[in-house]
Amino acid sequence: MSQSNYVVDTLISAKSIAARIEDLAKEIELEFKGTDKLIVVGLLRGSFVFIADLVRELNLPVEVDFLEASSYGDEMVSSKEVRILKDLRGAIEGKDVLLVEDIVDTGFTLHHVTNLLWSRSPAKLKTIALLDKPSRRETEIKADWTGFEIPDEFVVGYGIDYAQRNRNLSFIGKVRFVEQ
Ligand code: IMP
Ligand code: MG
Repeated sequence: MSQSNYVVDTLISAKSIAARIEDLAKEIELEFKGTDKLIVVGLLRGSFVFIADLVRELNLPVEVDFLEASSYGDEMVSSKEVRILKDLRGAIEGKDVLLVEDIVDTGFTLHHVTNLLWSRSPAKLKTIALLDKPSRRETEIKADWTGFEIPDEFVVGYGIDYAQRNRNLSFIGKVRFVEQ
């Protein structure tokens, strides 16, 4: 799609996101109760705001690491090929890991990255996605926790971009193209 004019309509408010994260954090604390160290792995770049808010709600001993997988580039369609652009700094063998993703769309990214992380023998690996577009799924995968299920709309904000813009919006909005 060409970079024509667009507006962003609010889909999920900052307040709703904060409330949902409080609930998710409680469930994650229960799941990882007693862990001596939880490694929270953020998938760059879209999860950076979500992971920042999520870890501050977690009452657990936490370490944070990041991984970058290839994304859409500046396009609005997903590619089936997933490449690792930046790997974790630390080892996860025998560790408890929580993988944090912004959106599960076709599911190829989450599928590929979870396979990669499992190949490194973590003690436990769970996944959380802020948003899920189940109608777009092309692989059999679901995050263990999902913030919100959304329709097949292109969304931005709260870390999520369109052509690198709009990551700094405090809410999730949908992109609507308008005539010049
Ligand atoms: P998947 O591999 O098709 O599941 O794609 C997941 C990735 O595509 C997410 O991590 C996002 O970076 C990106 N993505 C999917 N839907 C959207 C969207 O509506 N807006 C911006 N990025 C998206
Ligand atoms: Mg992403």
